[in-house]
Amino acid sequence: MAKVVIQARLPGRIDEILAGHIVVKPTADEDQLPPARLLRELADADALLPLLTLPVGDALLDGAPRLKVVANYAVGYDNIDLQACRKRGIVATHTPGVLTEATADLTMALILATARRLREGMLLVESGQWHGWRPEQLIGLDLDGATLGIVGLGRIGRAVAGRARSFGMRIVHASPRPDERDGAPLPLDQLLATSDVVSLHAPLTPQTRHLIGARELGLMKPLAILVNTARGSIVDESALVEALERGQLGGVGLDVFEDEPRVPSRLVQIPRVICLPHLGSAARATRARMAEMAAESIADVLAGRRPAHPISG
Ligand code: DGY
Repeated sequence: MAKVVIQARLPGRIDEILAGHIVVKPTADEDQLPPARLLRELADADALLPLLTLPVGDALLDGAPRLKVVANYAVGYDNIDLQACRKRGIVATHTPGVLTEATADLTMALILATARRLREGMLLVESGQWHGWRPEQLIGLDLDGATLGIVGLGRIGRAVAGRARSFGMRIVHASPRPDERDGAPLPLDQLLATSDVVSLHAPLTPQTRHLIGARELGLMKPLAILVNTARGSIVDESALVEALERGQLGGVGLDVFEDEPRVPSRLVQIPRVICLPHLGSAARATRARMAEMAAESIADVLAGRRPAHPISG
């Protein structure tokens, strides 16, 4: 019997999928395995199902000599050192596809909320400072006719484009290749200079770290909106805070941060910024399906089969 270590309490039918294996997971009153226990259990584990918050590199893998598979509970895999896995013959897998729609929904929610200044409106009501309807109160952006610049037109980017199109938005994109529906990509600088809303959907890699810094923010229209539901480090957070404090940008919607769960207090204090606690895939069926997909990958590798979603990067 193989031993499977599951870092966190997860929804879905994972016990059924992993039946026949020794499964180590948090107890009913724990959210996650305590870090010391996780490391102890990995010493003789065959499989690991980690969260996107667990760095899986040499330091961890040195203590897990029997590991055959790491099935990340996420589509993003910047927490996994693929080379460290490869040199040990460990298969790494992720959960593409299942969270596309949920993440696109949340992105659209942030686009709508920032465009129509929902946080500022709520603050006005909650503080008792709303003194009645005014023609020029909290005027936002009309999405109909506005340009949405998608950085990274992959599965999630395309799903956002579909939603935005039904709100009347025009789509442009900056991606490595042309898209059948949305045509040729624009150079990033041109996308930034011409978009009313910029939404980030690229994976975090050495090439995309701080892709949006002070220079790029400076290229955006004065009232443009920036939305990030991808990975926090794609944006240089300090540069973003400084740009906002200088009065640049009309709104910012962030679901991800450079050093989660730390969210800079200067950012939170700016009313035209909406910060969420990494909720992109946080929908019931999605989270269950992600867990089942990761468990299926583990079951496949342990049975000597090729898993459906190996990380190819
Ligand atoms: C992922 O899967 O990479 C997401 O960030 C989780 O919501």
